[in-house]
Amino acid sequence: MEAEALQKEALAAAEAAQTLAQLDEARVQYLGRSSELKLALREVRDRETGMALNAVREALEAAFAARQSELERAELSARLTTERVDVTLPAELLGDVRVRPRGSLHPTTLIRRDVEDAFIGLGYEIREDREIETVEYNFDKLAFPAWHPARSSRDTFYVDADTVLRTETSPSQIHILEEKPPPVYMVSIGRVYRRDAITPTRFPIFHQFEGLAIDRGITMADLKGTLLHVMRALFGEEREVRFRTHYFPFTEPSMEPDVSCGVCGGSGCPTCKWSGWIEIGGSGMVDPQVLANVGLDPGEWGGFAFGLGLERAAQLRYDIPTIRPFWENDLRFVRQFR
Ligand code: DAH
Repeated sequence: MEAEALQKEALAAAEAAQTLAQLDEARVQYLGRSSELKLALREVRDRETGMALNAVREALEAAFAARQSELERAELSARLTTERVDVTLPAELLGDVRVRPRGSLHPTTLIRRDVEDAFIGLGYEIREDREIETVEYNFDKLAFPAWHPARSSRDTFYVDADTVLRTETSPSQIHILEEKPPPVYMVSIGRVYRRDAITPTRFPIFHQFEGLAIDRGITMADLKGTLLHVMRALFGEEREVRFRTHYFPFTEPSMEPDVSCGVCGGSGCPTCKWSGWIEIGGSGMVDPQVLANVGLDPGEWGGFAFGLGLERAAQLRYDIPTIRPFWENDLRFVRQFR
């Protein structure tokens, strides 16, 4: 073919290519090793023809390169339009994208976080301890007398004669006091176990938070003020706290705190059984025997302790009549606490 005609045909082919693949095909055809042009160049005998054919080759190479960048730009902008993701759209509108359901926190977790916040705000350290506990730490060092019913295997899950599933978070008091010298301000949170039949208020596994403050010159007023702070953080600023005397092995004196009823505000209603108050947990001034058990001088150091149930607190806050749904893994229950 005439060089001029060949050039025209090749330029037209480059122009006609609509995709990079088509352009490649045309390039092989007109500039490839066995193309008419390359074969002709190999046969060249005279300078004139050589210069003419090389000029054609250069013109074609330039034309193919130009078309190539045109097509590349077009393909890129096509991809940018079709593959565009508008990250500001709500997830449900993103076409094929699988929508992830939004989860919600378990009410026990919600209460736990509020407890942690309230005490971190007071400068307490938060800790967790083992759930499989020795009889020594669960009972002996906490000054449980030999006759105490909680020591019975009817009330407590024994792993072996010296080991139990802890029945309370109180062993944390011993652990931290053995770990470091006072002053100590700590809250321990975690699961505890009791051999209870399931009722609206009891379940064989539940959570407690345990507070301990050991320092010089701590009084019962400090205990009451601390509990008032926490009750208000959990249940609202209008709440009041009162104490009723009680007995616990590791505190002397021992008190059960009550929080004023949030349903009636204290005037009396079915929720508080017409008393205006709701029982919540135990507390007291740390018994000198407990301090002596960890090698502290009760003449120098003293303090208070308290223990409350997380589920019980959540039941009061969210008005949940029984403890069972906390442990049933029913998502319909959990989803109500968005
Ligand atoms: N350990 C007690 C229980 O589980 C609760 C308790 C009472 C904890 C008095 C304390 C306390 O720290 O001082 O019933």
